[in-house]
Amino acid sequence: MVAHLKNKNKESQWFGYKRVKPDEKARLVETVFDSVASRYDLMNDLMSGGIHRLWKNRLVAMLRPSASKLLLDVAGGTGDIAFRYRQQLRCNINGGEAAAGDKTHITICDINKEMLDVGKDRAINRGYLKGFKWVVGNAESLPFADNSYHLYTISFGLRNVPKIDDALEEAYRVLKPGGQFFCLEFSQVTNPALRKIYDEYSFRVIPKIGEVIANDRNSYQYLVESIRQFPNQTELAARMKKAGFEKVRYINLSGGIAAIHTGIKL
Ligand SMILES: C[S@@+](CC[C@H](N)C(=O)[O-])C[C@H]1O[C@@H](n2cnc3c(N)ncnc32)[C@H](O)[C@@H]1O
Repeated sequence: MVAHLKNKNKESQWFGYKRVKPDEKARLVETVFDSVASRYDLMNDLMSGGIHRLWKNRLVAMLRPSASKLLLDVAGGTGDIAFRYRQQLRCNINGGEAAAGDKTHITICDINKEMLDVGKDRAINRGYLKGFKWVVGNAESLPFADNSYHLYTISFGLRNVPKIDDALEEAYRVLKPGGQFFCLEFSQVTNPALRKIYDEYSFRVIPKIGEVIANDRNSYQYLVESIRQFPNQTELAARMKKAGFEKVRYINLSGGIAAIHTGIKL
């Protein structure tokens, strides 16, 4: 292994407010999502008052779903982005449900099998029997060939990945020339007054909801802390450019509580 890669693998990372080795972060993140998988969707609604749905809808509208595009949704978890994409595709094409099944080409990749299993069950409950591939894989070393996808999405996933730059490089690698990258992630609230209220809510209320509903205060404490350690809007944009993306832009959602970053592989 070349020296810089060796060093990269040793550099400590934030796990919430703790510094840990990258391998340890991966293991701890896995424990978090093993623990929350069955309550993950309910918790998202409770914590955000349903607002995460609006953010995800916004992301999917930006993807402009079409039958000719291959979508890779990394850290796809329980399938939220994939299902929204398919719903939107169904509206965009003729032929209704049957055609949508044939024309959906979505790969959902996640490091955590438990999360994907919940996603597969949700797909079956919705009658979505075709069009989805569920793949266990790591965003830092994707099990896909170069230049494979038109669209790459990562929604509330990048914050959990120990080596963000590796994940960005992998996103760039698997996208086709002209392919588009989209990252929806918690970000930095721009208005100081709103930031104060948001911090109060995050640190006081969210771990409590985690304790009561998911019987897991620590995982939700991690969530709140990990948001504070994630690169802000301009830092993430700079790191995307470093990975090779061009036309890098971002939009803030709900005053910067979340942001969508986009870039193109030219
Ligand atoms: C907060 S959930 C987001 C799920 C879904 N994308 C959504 O928006 O609802 C984060 C997901 O990232 C996955 N994850 C964490 N580290 C990962 C990695 N290195 N590679 C791929 N997935 C990862 C977790 O297993 C979890 O399913």
